[in-house]
Order: sequence, then structure tokens, then C-alpha cells
Amino acid sequence: MSHSGFSLYVHVPWCERKCPYCDFNSHALPAGHTLDPEIEQAYVLQLLNDLDLDLESHNLSGEIDTLFIGGGTPSLFSSDAIDQLLTGIHQRLPIASHAECTLEANPGSSDHAKFARFRAAGINRLSLGIQSFSDIALTALGRVHHRDEAIAAIESARAAGFNNINLDLMYGLPGQLPDDALKDLAEALNFRPEHISWYQLTIEPNTVFYRTSPSLPHENLLLEIDKIGLQCLKDHGYQRYEVSAFARNPQLRSKHNLNYWQFGDYLGIGAGAHGKITTHAPHHRVIRTQKTRAPQHYLAAVNPSQRQIETQDLPLEFLMNGLRLVDGFLLSQFEATTRLPVSTLDDFIKAGETRGWLTRDNGQLRATPRGYHFLDSLLTLI
Ligand SMILES: C[S@@+](CC[C@H](N)C(=O)[O-])C[C@H]1O[C@@H](n2cnc3c(N)ncnc32)[C@H](O)[C@@H]1O
Ligand code: SF4
Repeated sequence: MSHSGFSLYVHVPWCERKCPYCDFNSHALPAGHTLDPEIEQAYVLQLLNDLDLDLESHNLSGEIDTLFIGGGTPSLFSSDAIDQLLTGIHQRLPIASHAECTLEANPGSSDHAKFARFRAAGINRLSLGIQSFSDIALTALGRVHHRDEAIAAIESARAAGFNNINLDLMYGLPGQLPDDALKDLAEALNFRPEHISWYQLTIEPNTVFYRTSPSLPHENLLLEIDKIGLQCLKDHGYQRYEVSAFARNPQLRSKHNLNYWQFGDYLGIGAGAHGKITTHAPHHRVIRTQKTRAPQHYLAAVNPSQRQIETQDLPLEFLMNGLRLVDGFLLSQFEATTRLPVSTLDDFIKAGETRGWLTRDNGQLRATPRGYHFLDSLLTLI
């Protein structure tokens, strides 16, 4: 199989401390320790080995259009390690000159000089995990950083020359009132980031918050926060294009994440990383890949596993992604990526239209504002 261009996700599984709400594959370093340079070096080599194995087993070639180094906390890595990683990737698979190359950074784990070196290594988009500008909220979230470091990280990113920045913010935080959430947004907007990801805090199984739930805002307050927050983002010229994603203009949307939501293919390397690959010959198959989760096991052996998405599950998998987009998707895109006829969706579309949750226009299917609000219920109609 060959591709003209695709996406690569790289997972870095370590953090300074594990946040009590986080269910990502992230592991705390021993208290007071930084990442051991030997482990960092071994991990970079294993990532490249992982990529080699993927390229060989899926017979892939072409250029990388989007690269996303996520975590965990990739900014714990030294700039030399990021440079070595990008050089190694480029030697195996050219990174297109126009490629979007994002790195997730936590306030407190990077300074201006390090950001400048990340940029020199080829990173052209930074995603900063701000979460909130309130020290009270940051403490309630168990974050290691404070308000001052959040501000310093954004200023350092700009000073290092990054002109494509995403800020992650969360709302619905313990004890948060609508005004507090609005203050966080207003402060973020002051920096005119190109992109904002505004997530409602969710309580996930296997987290500390799941076992000892903090006192979260009541449903009515959440609805109020949602309403005024969306209005605030809109008033400041940020277009919502996905449930939690807002960009200053369509060119500034996250290309890497758009590929996920459009059910595109991607490789995933690193501990616990997921990938999705479509094979065309001799059979059309959509395959999900995964690598060993525990960092220590991954360092010993990548142990890739894969499973085919059964044909009957393809419509739901596609819709779970495609309907998250405000613009929805072209029905022709459904056909192209799943190789299923559009008629597979006839009953779903009819049921959604009857409830006023779906609308179709010029071959494009999207959720209505009401359907978007009840996305989970909408997806049960499939
Ligand atoms: C994969 S995390 C990693 C980013 C980075 N390590 C950090 O935390 O700053 C990406 C983002 O997901 C969001 N997130 C993580 N857990 C969440 C949860 N339980 N509910 C809502 N958003 C969450 C946070 O905004 C976080 O910045
Ligand atoms: S820093 Fe980010 S990835 Fe690490 S534990 Fe906290 S939320 Fe999870």
C-alpha cells in the first residue's frame, strides 16, 4: 500500500506528576526526578525502531503531512532528543515542507530557550496545557504548575517564534462558577492564540477523581458555563469546528486532529500509541493498531498488536468521529473511507432527521445544533 501523505502520532508516556483526573497513558517520574537521559535515549531509539516495524508491516511510503508528539509530557524531553527523533523520522519518511508538526508542552517543563530549540528542530505548532489561570483551580486539579508559569509558557512560546499555538483549557472545575470559567477564557483570549481547546472536565474510571470525586459544578451551572463560554469564544472571532476545538480561521484548525475526525489513516508510535491503517489490496480492511502500554515493557519490546474493525462496526466508528465536526462530513467521504454504500446510513439519517437532529445539504451530513447538543443520543440511533 502507498499513500500520498499521512499522519504520525508519537506518544511520550512520562509526566512530572500524575494528575488526579487523567486517564491517559502517562506515568509519574519518581518525585523530584527528571527524565533519566539514558531512558530518554533508549526511548527515542525504540520509537524509531517502532516506526521501522510499522513501515515494514504495512508497506507504507509517502510524506508525513501532520506529526503530533503528545503525552504525557513531551516537553520533558530535551531538545536534542526531539531533534534526534525528528531527524530519524525524516530519514525514514520525508516530513512534507508544509507539514504541521505539533508538540504538547506543559507549563513549568519548558523555558524560552528550550522552545526555541524545539522550533529549530522542526516543531512549528505548540499545544500548551494551561487548564486554568487560577491558582485555586490549578491546585484543585493537582497540577504542578501555577498561574505565573502558565503565563510565562505562553510568552516564551511567542518569544521563541511560535506563530501557531494551541491553549488547552478545562472548565467545569471543582468549585468553579460561570464567572471563573469566563475569566479563564478571557485571559487566554488576551494572548490571541491561534487555537483553543476548551474541554469540560470529565471524571474517568481509573483516576483518583473517580474514587474520591471532588465537588463539581451542578448541571445548571455547567449549562450556563457552556452557554456563556461558547458566546465569548464566538464574540472574539474563534470559530468552533469540533465539540471542544476553536480556531481563529479555518487554516488554523488542527490538521492532525481533523484527520482523526475525518476517519483518516495514521500511524501511532510509542508506549500505548494507537494507529489506524486502511489496506486496499488484496482486501479493503480498516485496522486499528496498538503498542505495549507500560513504558518499561515498551522499552524492552514494542509488541505491536492489531485488530480489524468489523464491517458492521465501521458506520458507528466513522460517525463517532465525523459528527463531532460542526460541518459534519460529505457522504462521499463516508463511502471512500469505509467502502460501504451511502445507503448503509439511510435508516440512521431518516431517524435523525425525524427528530430534528440531523440535516443533509448537498451531500453533506451534519448534526443540527440540537443534535450536536445530544451527540451521544444521536449516535445511539445507528
Ligand atoms: C493528553 S493531555 C496532555 C497534555 C499535557 N500533558 C497537559 O496535561 O498539560 C491533553 C489535554 O487533555 C485535557 N484533559 C485531560 N484529561 C481530561 C479530563 N479528564 N477531562 C477533560 N479534559 C482532559 C487537558 O486539557 C490536557 O491538556
Ligand atoms: S500532565 Fe497531562 S498527561 Fe500528564 S498526568 Fe497531567 S493531564 Fe495527564
